[in-house]
Amino acid sequence: MIQDLLPPGAYAVETFDDSDAEEQLAQLERTLVAGAAPGRRREFTTARLTARRALARAGLPVVPIPTGEFGEPRWPPGVIGSITHCAGYRAAAVAPAGSVPVLGIDAEPDLPLPSGVLEAITRPAELARLRALDRAAPGRAPWGRLLFSAKESAYKAWFPLGRRRLDFVEADADIGADGSFRVMLRVRGPLLNGERVTGFTGRWATRGGLLLTAASAVVTAPRGTHASPRRDHHDHQDHQDHQDPKIRQIRQIQQS
Ligand SMILES: CC(C)(COP(=O)(O)OP(=O)(O)OC[C@H]1O[C@@H](n2cnc3c(N)ncnc32)[C@H](O)[C@@H]1OP(=O)(O)O)[C@@H](O)C(=O)NCCC(=O)NCCS
Repeated sequence: MIQDLLPPGAYAVETFDDSDAEEQLAQLERTLVAGAAPGRRREFTTARLTARRALARAGLPVVPIPTGEFGEPRWPPGVIGSITHCAGYRAAAVAPAGSVPVLGIDAEPDLPLPSGVLEAITRPAELARLRALDRAAPGRAPWGRLLFSAKESAYKAWFPLGRRRLDFVEADADIGADGSFRVMLRVRGPLLNGERVTGFTGRWATRGGLLLTAASAVVTAPRGTHASPRRDHHDHQDHQDHQDPKIRQIRQIQQS
């Protein structure tokens, strides 16, 4: 399913069952989850073995994938990729570096967000666009959860370039009813091949009770321009959002 959201050059493998084959992991991978609960160990094992299958499908070296200090998968040189899991679903996508600019994938249940979360991850301009989507295509997708997932995909695409955590209010997501999305950075973006990245674009779909997003392209500042992040009259509100207990609450949900 998630393959359909990716451009040529990227390869995804997904699975709906968990694997108990922890012995197939490399020692360094097993060590990463040695003290974790059984459910997390199964999820990790399945996702890592799924990633190996994606590497094989792409014709790339099938190697262990350690975890970096921010929780990110550390792909071998020359490879970019992303991993996601949610209840009943695990997926990995990889590509030879250079064949696609970035890769970030996310899967969520096709359900509305728990109450209070949307307000914590959006700015007023994003909420206004979500309301417009709801009026234009009511019930077509849980638009708030979709915005959340698009931001998570964009974060996974951002991380290998930005190498730091990105707050939800540091980006502005715009969901298209046509299955596209765009997440624009509100902070100075990283460089990719000498160009300043100002945002990420991708595709989304709802299938079989799941909501899937994949960010696989970048928006860059035109050469010679000074790429200032987008600022608007809600900046004061954003400053307040950083202090908001709801923001801290969503961070805890994400880190748990
Ligand atoms: C890291 C994060 C995006 C993971 O999303 P999630 O919905 O909780 O979980 P998913 O199952 O979709 O993804 C988990 C996988 O993400 C990958 N991941 C974790 N940290 C990552 C990072 N910094 N960069 C890239 N990938 C990362 C890992 O492969 C992880 O699986 P693993 O631990 O089994 O290897 C989320 O927990 C988080 O920290 N979000 C806050 C930052 C954010 O999204 N900001 C939005 C800015 S616009």
